[in-house]
Amino acid sequence: MLQTSYIELSKKALRKNIKYLKDLIGLDVKFVSVIKGNAYGHGIEQFLPLAEECGIDYFATFDVYEAGKAMKVKSDSTELMVMGVIDDESLPWLIENKISFFISNIDRLKKVVSSAKLAGKPARVHIEVETGLHRTGIEQPDLSKVVQVIKENTGLLEIEGLCTHYAGAESVSNYVRIHHQIDTFNTIRNWFSNNGIRFRYYHTACSAAAIMYPETRMNMVRIGIAQYGYWPSKETKVYKLLSDNARYRKNPLSRVLNWKTKVMDTKVVPPGEFVGYGNEYQTDNKTRIAIIPVGYFHGYRRSLSNIGHVLIHGKEAPIIGAVNMSMMIADVTRIQGVKKNDEVVLIGKQHKRNISVASFSERFNLVNYELLARLPMQIMRIVVR
Ligand SMILES: Cc1ncc(COP(=O)(O)O)c(C=O)c1O
Repeated sequence: MLQTSYIELSKKALRKNIKYLKDLIGLDVKFVSVIKGNAYGHGIEQFLPLAEECGIDYFATFDVYEAGKAMKVKSDSTELMVMGVIDDESLPWLIENKISFFISNIDRLKKVVSSAKLAGKPARVHIEVETGLHRTGIEQPDLSKVVQVIKENTGLLEIEGLCTHYAGAESVSNYVRIHHQIDTFNTIRNWFSNNGIRFRYYHTACSAAAIMYPETRMNMVRIGIAQYGYWPSKETKVYKLLSDNARYRKNPLSRVLNWKTKVMDTKVVPPGEFVGYGNEYQTDNKTRIAIIPVGYFHGYRRSLSNIGHVLIHGKEAPIIGAVNMSMMIADVTRIQGVKKNDEVVLIGKQHKRNISVASFSERFNLVNYELLARLPMQIMRIVVR
């Protein structure tokens, strides 16, 4: 083990999730895999080829840096879209590599036309429209200018998509707002159509929208969290499992990621001694401890000092004392025979026990998204079949 811990990606789990989601959205809807945030912590370089093996051929990143990583590992026929920030200097590269990208204001569209002219090649664009999220997206008064620019530059613009993003489809409390956005999008879509502009793809749905609002699937969906094996929210899970028939009584989504390390050393501490730095933990009895080579530098939060637990030999071992920068200590007194190099699970399953991402996120009032995206890039990702 070159690094002190590693993240395993399960191909079996990913294949299962993608099959479930594809069955749900239908074969005539293009499945775009969202791999921003280092593929939600799974690692773009390892996750993308794995997802290709599971039948995905279109990926979405947030920025050009992520698109560059994806370019290095993707197959020739796989398509890419950038949904977020793009600086002007990157436009020639995107055009050259046929990477499509969101246009969220009219000035950007004009700039893209100039770049395409210079490159002598068309730019592939998705027109992102404002429908009520009030984040990015072209405002309605500017839409006639969009039509004009598109019509005047037919050879320079490939109109890949018309799109928007919802303001929290995972929560029932946003029901009215989401419906309003759906109506607004459909009005804009018809308006473009009446003005003679048709798009290759119409896409609005993230995981929650694709699950909760079937009408948002159109002919393309942008799926992030669900493909990695997590429900966007508890509400989404309950809604879906109740509305599915008995076929899916078991959770159809499986976690793709497991985070593991190995015991670095063990020793016995006499009763009444403090363990680790300071006086954060004092032994009551003779205590057998296991040293674990993971700390807050590796993404294991310091606030889990004296609170967290790991799995060793399929049993829960509590973290005692402070989580240090590169190490932490687990009490293994009640686990027989723990020794150097034994597997330690930080997130994931061991025998019948499980430490879920949600068990971390709930403790810190984080959403799964944040915990996953914060997993440090430098941890080694390994694909398991
Ligand atoms: C524009 C856009 N589309 C799709 C997604 C995927 O969302 P989810 O992970 O909830 O499926 C995101 C993620 O936040 C996004 O920003």
